[in-house]
Amino acid sequence: MANTNLANAKTAKNDEFYTQYPDIQKEINAYLDYDPNVFRGKTVLLPCDDPEWSNFTKFFAQNFELLGLKKLISTSYAPESKKYKMPYQPTLFETSQPYFDNDKSKTHGKIFVLERDVTGDNRINIEDLQWQYLEGDGDFRSKEIRKLRDEADIIVTNPPFSLFREFVAWIMEAGKQFVIIGTMNAISYKEIFPLLINNKMWLGNGFHNGNAYFRVVNEREYAEGVYDAETGLVKFRNCCWFTNIDHGRRHQPLKLMTMAENFKHSKHKEIRERKKYLHYENYDAIEIPYTDAIPSDYDGVMGVPASFLDKYCPEQFELLGMCENLDLYSLKTKVYSSNECKEAYLKKFGKKGTYDLNASGVLKIDGQLEKVYQRLLIRKKQ
Ligand SMILES: C[S@@+](CC[C@H](N)C(=O)[O-])C[C@H]1O[C@@H](n2cnc3c(N)ncnc32)[C@H](O)[C@@H]1O
Repeated sequence: MANTNLANAKTAKNDEFYTQYPDIQKEINAYLDYDPNVFRGKTVLLPCDDPEWSNFTKFFAQNFELLGLKKLISTSYAPESKKYKMPYQPTLFETSQPYFDNDKSKTHGKIFVLERDVTGDNRINIEDLQWQYLEGDGDFRSKEIRKLRDEADIIVTNPPFSLFREFVAWIMEAGKQFVIIGTMNAISYKEIFPLLINNKMWLGNGFHNGNAYFRVVNEREYAEGVYDAETGLVKFRNCCWFTNIDHGRRHQPLKLMTMAENFKHSKHKEIRERKKYLHYENYDAIEIPYTDAIPSDYDGVMGVPASFLDKYCPEQFELLGMCENLDLYSLKTKVYSSNECKEAYLKKFGKKGTYDLNASGVLKIDGQLEKVYQRLLIRKKQ
């Protein structure tokens, strides 16, 4: 029970961290570099954003004219509906409005809309945002927010990680364009990976050096990642952007060496010394332990690290599946019995136990069955 509470608290905290302006700017610029008109005439919805201080709202409001937006809608989730309870204090911005409502402030979500010049300065910017309380609490799954989703062309946010699957399904069922932040772990979800295979979703441009820094609500209780007291930010190593909007990096093929060149010049000693790529025992594929060791001249299936996805160019490779327990992608050539798993454990560790060989790719090294880390299965495009 205690464990469940702890897990719930951790998940709730994981939902409360806030994206920095430069990260949003850098990501959106990557789409604009590829197509300067990508946002022109579009309605953008930011559905999990506290508009008074979300950097998503700030960025899109400040750049409304530059992007050529038709309309910006930003909605927030009611403080009392949040799983992670924190002391709530309405902002001066809200309390100074004649329609401020102390109860609604806690139990209702808010909506901010930017569409036209309200202040009369002949510019549309953050000063022209207009807000009101939502009818409900702003849950993206509510009828009220679904309606806004249907009105939007593009959905951009850092959604609650605990609801990531649901959030993606919510976008997909409406067939919208999107740019969202998620954990890299999501790629292995059975609801997410098929979208990557079918090129209905891909990784965005990404955070600088793969490190994402977020602001958190209570630095002493941050859930994951490493807190830096100097910056007041938490570093997450495995966050990425997911999108279905094109950007240039996605179409840059990896520069690779042939198999023979790898055996001679690879920077990895084991590739140079072994002079062969090992074949899995349970997939008709070879094991490639590093993305930069993918040979350019192999036509069969290859198991590559998950980090390959960040370099995936759909014109160069085809994504076929991943090594996983359930064989969702029908690529397994062998399923191990529980006896075989027990035998492998005994052989490897010299004591009784079970080695879950079906959960990943398996290699035979010196007569011993060895599992490898998470692998994606890819093939060169002909
Ligand atoms: C990861 S935070 C990101 C906030 C903001 N998008 C940003 O990046 O600065 C996700 C936010 O979604 C809110 N949230 C949680 N469940 C929600 C739901 N069902 N509908 C809408 N928002 C929700 C959380 O309270 C949290 O504020």
